Amino acid sequence: MLNVGAGAGSYEPNDRWVLAVEPSATMRAQRPAGAAPAIAGRAEALPFDEDAVDAAMACVTIHHWESAQAGLAELRRVSRGPVVVFTFELEALPAWQLEFLREGVAKELPRFPAIDDVAAALGGQVRVESIPTPGDCVDGFFEAFWRRPEALLDPAVRGAQSVWALLDADVEQRIVDRLADALDSGLWDDQHGHLREQANFNGALRLVISEAPDDHG
Ligand SMILES: C[S@@+](CC[C@H](N)C(=O)[O-])C[C@H]1O[C@@H](n2cnc3c(N)ncnc32)[C@H](O)[C@@H]1O
Repeated sequence: MLNVGAGAGSYEPNDRWVLAVEPSATMRAQRPAGAAPAIAGRAEALPFDEDAVDAAMACVTIHHWESAQAGLAELRRVSRGPVVVFTFELEALPAWQLEFLREGVAKELPRFPAIDDVAAALGGQVRVESIPTPGDCVDGFFEAFWRRPEALLDPAVRGAQSVWALLDADVEQRIVDRLADALDSGLWDDQHGHLREQANFNGALRLVISEAPDDHG
């Protein structure tokens, strides 16, 4: 199967033959020894024939593409089987993140295609699954901290999240101060403290699965 926008290979299956496609040489260089081979390429112009692979996946990458529509059509074109896309529906982030991180969310929103548009671009029989985020999620995307708001006050945690790079330093500081004040005053816990008791959060994570159209395979 193809893993497009594969980066360093997190979430790449290791129980089947995989070829990674990744435009950034820096990211390709970070792939661990033993990871699937990676070639340089962009989703919008995959260097493969129609129906060339059994399946294709794209994980946390379509919001980076110059054209998500074109890239998704390419995934569908080259796969004779399913295409699986893992992405976010930002409107479904925890309410406190939509509120406290609103300047960041506003920058991110235009980058993320609507889930209906992802489904339409893939075509075929499509189903969308909502993936819960565990409270102790080890990945560092900002929704992962849905019940651990203090983590976002840590510059090292924010440093691993691309949203902050979209914001001026003073805006980042404003968000951090706003959150710190609400945590110090107890306001955050009054309004959202029930989240600390929850094991999982059904938020923004979406798996969009397109089965092969009848005329494929
Ligand atoms: C957030 S990383 C995700 C990497 C990996 N899929 C994962 O889940 O860990 C997004 C990746 O998309 C890649 N990317 C950016 N533009 C792309 C494009 N037009 N086609 C394919 N990949 C692209 C970036 O270089 C980066 O490696």
